[in-house]
Amino acid sequence: MSGTSSVHPLDQGDPLGPKRAAFALPEGVIYLDGNSLGTLPAHVPQRVADVVSKQWGESLIRAWNEHDWVDLPRRVGDRIGRLVGAAPGTVIAGDSTSINLFKVLSAALAMRSERKVILSDTGNFPTDLYMAQGLRDLLNAGHELRLVAPEEVADAITDEVAVIMITQVDYRTGRRHDMAALTRLAHEAGALAIWDLAHSAGAFKVELDACGADFAIGCGYKYLNGGPGAPAFLYVAERHQAVARQPLNGWMGHDAPFAFDLDYRGARGVDQFRVGTPPILSLSALDAALDVFDDVDMDVLRGKSVSLCELFIKEVESRCEGLELASPRNADERGSQVSFRFAEGYALMQALIARGVIGDFRAPDIVRFGFTPLYLSHGDVVKAVDILADILATRSWDAPQFKTRAKVT
Ligand SMILES: Cc1ncc(COP(=O)(O)O)c(C=O)c1O
Repeated sequence: MSGTSSVHPLDQGDPLGPKRAAFALPEGVIYLDGNSLGTLPAHVPQRVADVVSKQWGESLIRAWNEHDWVDLPRRVGDRIGRLVGAAPGTVIAGDSTSINLFKVLSAALAMRSERKVILSDTGNFPTDLYMAQGLRDLLNAGHELRLVAPEEVADAITDEVAVIMITQVDYRTGRRHDMAALTRLAHEAGALAIWDLAHSAGAFKVELDACGADFAIGCGYKYLNGGPGAPAFLYVAERHQAVARQPLNGWMGHDAPFAFDLDYRGARGVDQFRVGTPPILSLSALDAALDVFDDVDMDVLRGKSVSLCELFIKEVESRCEGLELASPRNADERGSQVSFRFAEGYALMQALIARGVIGDFRAPDIVRFGFTPLYLSHGDVVKAVDILADILATRSWDAPQFKTRAKVT
């Protein structure tokens, strides 16, 4: 248990226990929001400072070659690729998740131009749906964004569908789709599969290549700990790279950016999915943050994630009346977060945060807790539930200062 000498039995011999020291966690905080904004790895500030003062400050423009800044999107992409089961050369880091979705969805629709349906589900994160709506309107070619309930996706994959556009883990409930099964169904129907890995990358083992995924995207600032607004990533399966083309024809996606041709000629491979000058400072922070995963076995990480989530559910259900589990009870159907419903969820979360237990709230009534096994222990889970139970028993959440909604929830 953090901050005390007693160690929870489940933490004894935890191979990931020593990893906590790799993070700069503030004293007195139990951070259950790494699914929203990951924690700062302790060595990142120094690495970023070096990039600023040594690489930028001293090498100046020469750094593009001397420090190989120009290929940083590929190098960081390959490191993320290892975590999401993607071969080297299939992942590129940069831009935002939203923009990367626009790119891969454009490419996928062009590869299935005879079909007009983009299939997604009502549990998807809104930005994905908004980007698809924007692209549909821009193309003005009769596309339909078809939304079904998450449990109805499999049955809705028909031969009208061009692309299934699915977020693997539901941001509200943590419910996890079966990537291998849905991708197979999509392919059997002649459709392509795009996966949003925002709540998957760095949270558990993802197997993009093995599942036969066509495209994927994901965030750098959640479980990958790349920092606020960190560059995102995208994946293009090797077999599609000769034909897949995205339409944001920036010069960095040109086959020869420094030839300065007047006409665009897309690079081969995943480089065509680059657009403009990469954000070296934030890419360097993400690159450094990924170091913490270098010696992590993702199966071990998943095992501990399941154990933390199971303990949390058990403790909350036995000690916190009034909270209703919103996440699947079966661990195989969950990502690395657990959510509960509570009518006054916003106030409850504010009261928790005031006592040092940081999670977040998603309208209308979800309190959300992310479990990142690299820096959380079972002792933290018990301590967090002690505080939650006390807040509920004393109704201390029921105070005006916890009910005024901030801009970011
Ligand atoms: C599934 C999913 N996709 C995308 C995003 C965000 O996209 P962006 O990084 O472009 O803001 C989020 C943010 O939480 C998300 O949960």
